[in-house]
Amino acid sequence: MTPEEFRAAAHELVDWIADYRASVGERPVRSEVTPDWVRAALDGPPPEDPEDFASVVRDLSDVIVPGVTQTHSPGYYAWFPSNASLESVLGDMASSGVAALGITWQSAPALTEMEQVVTDWLRELCGLSTEWHGAIHDTASTACLVALLAARERATGLSEDRGGLQAEQLPVTVYASSQAHSSVTKGVLLAGFGRDNLRVVPVDPVTYAMDVDALRRMMAEDVAGGRRPGAVVASLGTTGTTAFDDVTAIVDVARTHGAWVHVDAAMAGSAMLLPECRELFRGVDGADSFGWNPHKWMGTILDCSLLYVRDVELLIRVFSTNPSYLRSTADGEVTQYKDWGIPLGRRFRAMKLWFHLRLAGAEAIRQRLRRDLANAQWLARAVQAESDWEVCAPVALQTVCLRHHPPGVTDPAALDAHQQAWAEAINATGRAFVTPAQVEGRWLVRVSIGAEATELDDVAALWALCRESVRAVNP
Ligand SMILES: Cc1ncc(COP(=O)(O)O)c(C=O)c1O
Repeated sequence: MTPEEFRAAAHELVDWIADYRASVGERPVRSEVTPDWVRAALDGPPPEDPEDFASVVRDLSDVIVPGVTQTHSPGYYAWFPSNASLESVLGDMASSGVAALGITWQSAPALTEMEQVVTDWLRELCGLSTEWHGAIHDTASTACLVALLAARERATGLSEDRGGLQAEQLPVTVYASSQAHSSVTKGVLLAGFGRDNLRVVPVDPVTYAMDVDALRRMMAEDVAGGRRPGAVVASLGTTGTTAFDDVTAIVDVARTHGAWVHVDAAMAGSAMLLPECRELFRGVDGADSFGWNPHKWMGTILDCSLLYVRDVELLIRVFSTNPSYLRSTADGEVTQYKDWGIPLGRRFRAMKLWFHLRLAGAEAIRQRLRRDLANAQWLARAVQAESDWEVCAPVALQTVCLRHHPPGVTDPAALDAHQQAWAEAINATGRAFVTPAQVEGRWLVRVSIGAEATELDDVAALWALCRESVRAVNP
């Protein structure tokens, strides 16, 4: 493709994207395709000869768009807000266009230094201490794994230089609450701690925050039993109910054992942009690592996950490699992000944050987050006003967890089945998409408000749909 051919096709594609985004609210929110429908529609022999651009774009409209959940729809309340601001889409396009090779500072100084600039911007916008040093990873799952690997090496005095964990005398234990995201378990397994050394700490039955007294007890028992507490993962904004662990108290307990504290605020971290929400994040500056995803509620297109650490020296000690072909005269003077995590090559992810922040401005983002907080409070009040409905977890941010209690139904299994049934009835309409989830053994329905397009009228329409749906499924 020549640059001139690219120009023509790209203009067409940008028009297509703008039209798609403008009409996204008219589509069923949940993808209605059946398993293998997309594959069958795309299947065929590998292309030998070039096709015209129009036929590729036709497939985008006819096959790909029906095959994705419309996360940009005002009716999207599933999982977590997965915004992709158009400002950040431009940044992603620019990143692809520049197509820098991000393996060392030397291979693309701008890639490294823009990443330093935007991670510092976000640190400042979130009111975090300047002791934090940030890098952009693909996801919070990777960020958590990186933190756990650093924690492992700190706990073992750099066992990677000897026989690794396999040669350690004392097993190293990791702690996270029963409400921590599944990526924490995955990270513990991948970092080699072993499932038997993951301690699931119970939560408070009302707030769903980690029971720090239980953490203290479990750590003491482990020490008495000949184990070494290596890390605690605290959750700020759990996936189920957006519960906030008490990081200050967790840091205090962890410190007595020299254990690393990683704070996972994947979804909720965006709220740190709001000074009035910072109290929820109290204690973060005492942790060892802190991660959150601008690619969720804040709205920078996926993949864009921030990981801040305080001890960069340790991180570099754990992750650095220095083969001859990657050395340059700038070594020692510059940041080499290859030594801050797992991959060598990195994308120019900073570009989407840089475009997003420069073109939208932090204040517009703050206003949108505040709108979502207010909409969640509106929904919570509307639900609480009805005697047969329950808001079953604190509404700390933008997620409202609901249960409906049909008159006369008391059997827990029937109640659980009812929640799943009315959620499915909503989702089947195509007008909205919510997520039923099991929290501490009970089924509830999560309404995760925060799509860029969702206004109060949309939330009011969802509430009407909730009431319609419980009547429709009438257990
Ligand atoms: C609290 C929490 N942590 C981690 C994750 C995983 O995020 P990612 O998809 O970026 O790995 C999620 C995703 O929902 C989450 O809610």
